[in-house]
Parts: sequence; structure tokens; C-alpha cells
Amino acid sequence: MSAKIRLGILGGGDDSLIGILHRAAASMHDQYEIAGGVFGSDYEKNKAFAEKIGLKEARIYKDFNALIRGEKALPKNERMQAVSVLTPNFLHFPMAKKLLENGFHVICEKPLTTSYTEARILEETLRESKAVFAVTYTYTGYPMIRQMKEMIANGDIGKIQKIDAQYYQGWLNPIVHDEEKRRNTWRLDPEKAGISCCIGDIGTHAFDLIEYVTGLEIKEVLADLNYLYRDNEMDIDGTVLLRFSEFVKGVLTSSQIATGEENNFTVKIYGDKGGLKWEQENPNYLYFLQEGEPLRVLKPGHPYNSELSLDGTKMPPGHPEGIFDSMGSIYKGVAKAIKKEKYHPAEFPTIKDGIRGLIFIEKTVESHRNGNIWVKIAE
Ligand SMILES: NC(=O)c1ccc[n+]([C@@H]2O[C@H](COP(=O)([O-])OP(=O)(O)OC[C@H]3O[C@@H](n4cnc5c(N)ncnc54)[C@H](O)[C@@H]3O)[C@@H](O)[C@H]2O)c1
Repeated sequence: MSAKIRLGILGGGDDSLIGILHRAAASMHDQYEIAGGVFGSDYEKNKAFAEKIGLKEARIYKDFNALIRGEKALPKNERMQAVSVLTPNFLHFPMAKKLLENGFHVICEKPLTTSYTEARILEETLRESKAVFAVTYTYTGYPMIRQMKEMIANGDIGKIQKIDAQYYQGWLNPIVHDEEKRRNTWRLDPEKAGISCCIGDIGTHAFDLIEYVTGLEIKEVLADLNYLYRDNEMDIDGTVLLRFSEFVKGVLTSSQIATGEENNFTVKIYGDKGGLKWEQENPNYLYFLQEGEPLRVLKPGHPYNSELSLDGTKMPPGHPEGIFDSMGSIYKGVAKAIKKEKYHPAEFPTIKDGIRGLIFIEKTVESHRNGNIWVKIAE
């Protein structure tokens, strides 16, 4: 198959945060063409936006059900093949499920669903379809994260003994102290976001990246969450102790009230031979620490990086790559899977990673609500 993949988009209009990232990522490696979609729940705004980005009106639908009907009525060689789900969390499950039932490949934003039960149902629906399913844990596409994964697998830092991930944002601070704004923010509404705000929104990124780079599974968590106001049902800050095994432990700290912070996400993994550190706000540097040796800083695009790391790098070393490129690499991997080409399993996160995220969210909240106790998160 040589033609571009016909992609539909749900959500991600010009009023959204994440839409532009997916549109740029989809076009980056010349693998997709955006065929149409539903970019918002207001039809007129949706049409105006679609026109602005040059899409045909016929493929802009009033709502999600109309999209399925409209696309199914088209000949197969015109129909959308894959659909990206970029809506608020509560719509991921009904949209992704129906897309799978109707033969579309799905690229779904995180968190996969609003509950573990829904995530499991989705897994079952996927099993019955022949579709490709990706969950866009964006940070897994960074070249230096992929390099970190491969170096850990190669034994470069030895046996892992300490894991530390921190994801700090401050954008909720001015919102949470304003009752009106607090009520109107979907991430603070359990009906729209699920049972958690901070842990569900960004804690899951940290959880996913830890499991991605180490290849280990977190087995138990103990959480202390902060809600800041008694009438706020959603955590906006949390510290989670992690146990991988008796002698491998870690901590995940996550906050959306870390005043002044932007997107300060760092992951540090220490083994008995060395350590690796990565910071999202400076993503082109991977710090390699070894006892008695000078600090080494690895950068993308050099032949010393692994094939997996080099796969997403498009320019010679010294041309900084960022979050658009990271998502672009994920879309590239998904395209290979859809076209049935050879790909590395670490090129994009799957439904399994999405389900792990939901277990983490539910068990973390359970640990906090039950008095900060250890809770097993293995299935
Ligand atoms: N991977 C990442 O790094 C990352 C970053 C930000 C957000 N996200 C995820 O992306 C999703 C969207 O987040 P956001 O920050 O862009 O939210 P947002 O509120 O900024 O945008 C949501 C979009 O969905 C549209 N929408 C709402 N209801 C709809 C419906 N019924 N049909 C079609 N479109 C509808 C809105 O009009 C808007 O365009 C969330 O699940 C979030 O967790 C992921």
C-alpha cells in the first residue's frame, strides 16, 4: 500500500490544546491525509474550522454517530481508515468502541477511558476487530527517551535500584482558587475526566514513561493526594511511592499546582552501575551518570544512538527536536502497523499501556481514600 492513510479526527478543534499536535504529527512523515472529522460539538464552529484548514465540507460531520454513518456509506477506498480521538476523556470509550466495531483503526488520547472496566471492554472489542490501536503517551516518541529505554535494556546502568519521576505543572493554580473557574474546567469534573485530575492527566504520563524506559512493572503503590478544597472532588497534586519488587523502589510526584511550573517532567533511573536522567523541557539531552566518571550528555541523531532512537530523527544532530517530533514518531509507527510494515513494538503505546494507566489511576486514588495504604496494582 503506498497511498496516504485517510485519517479522521474527533475533537482537537482550534479551541483545543492537543489538536494542533496531532495534525502536525500526522503530516510530519507524509503518511496520512486528514479526510475530515468532528472537531467540536458546535457544528457551525466545527465547519468553520474545517474550512480554515482546507477540508471538504462533505466530510465534516455534525457529530460522531453521523461520522460513522457517513463514512460507512462511502466506498472503502475513500473511507477514513483511522480516526484520532482527541476529545475530553469521557468520550474516548464510546467513540473508540464504536470505531473499532465499525472497522476503523484508532489513535486515542490518554487516559484511555474513565475507568478500568471500560478499558477492559475496549480491549475485548479490539480483540474482535483487526484494527491497530494506539494510545498517545506522547513522551515515548522522544529520541532520547527511546535511547534511555535501549540503554537500560542493554544493561548500561546495571541492575535498577531507584526510580524517580516528577511531573510538575502550575496551570491549575489560578483556576482552583476561583470557585467559578473551578466549576467550569472539565479536568476538575469527574463526569468528564474520570475519578482523578492530576494523577489521571499527568501522573499517568509519568507512570507510563517509567514502565516504558525500564521495562519493569510497578506492583504496588501508596499515595498521598491533595485536593486543596473540601468541595473539590479531584486531586490536583500527589505523591506516590512505588514498589517494583522488594529491592526496587521509587517515587512519582505529580502536581498541577506547582505554581509557576510549565511542563516540568523529569525521569531519573538509577542502577548499580550508573544512572540516566531526562528532562522534558530540555528533551534533546540525556544525562548518563557513572561512578567516578565525568557526566556524559547524549544527544539525538548521532550514530551512537540505537536504531529505535534514530528512527524518529529527521535532521542532522544539532537541530533541536521537540514534542511535535515526538508525536510524529508515534504516528509514524502507527502508520507502519496499519500498512503492515515491519516496526519495533516500542514505536507506539498500545491498549495494554492504556489499561495499565487506568489501573494506576484507580489504585492510586484507592490508596489515598483508604488512608494512604499500600495497594497492589498488578492485574
Ligand atoms: N498526550 C498528551 O500529552 C496530552 C496533552 C494534552 C491533552 N491530552 C488529552 O487529549 C484530550 C483532549 O485534551 P485537550 O487539552 O485538547 O482538551 P480541550 O478541552 O482543550 O479540547 C477538547 C476538544 O474536544 C472538542 N469536543 C468536545 N466535545 C466534543 C464532541 N462531542 N465531539 C467532538 N469534539 C468534541 C472540543 O470542542 C475541543 O476542541 C484529553 O483526553 C487529554 O487528556 C493529551
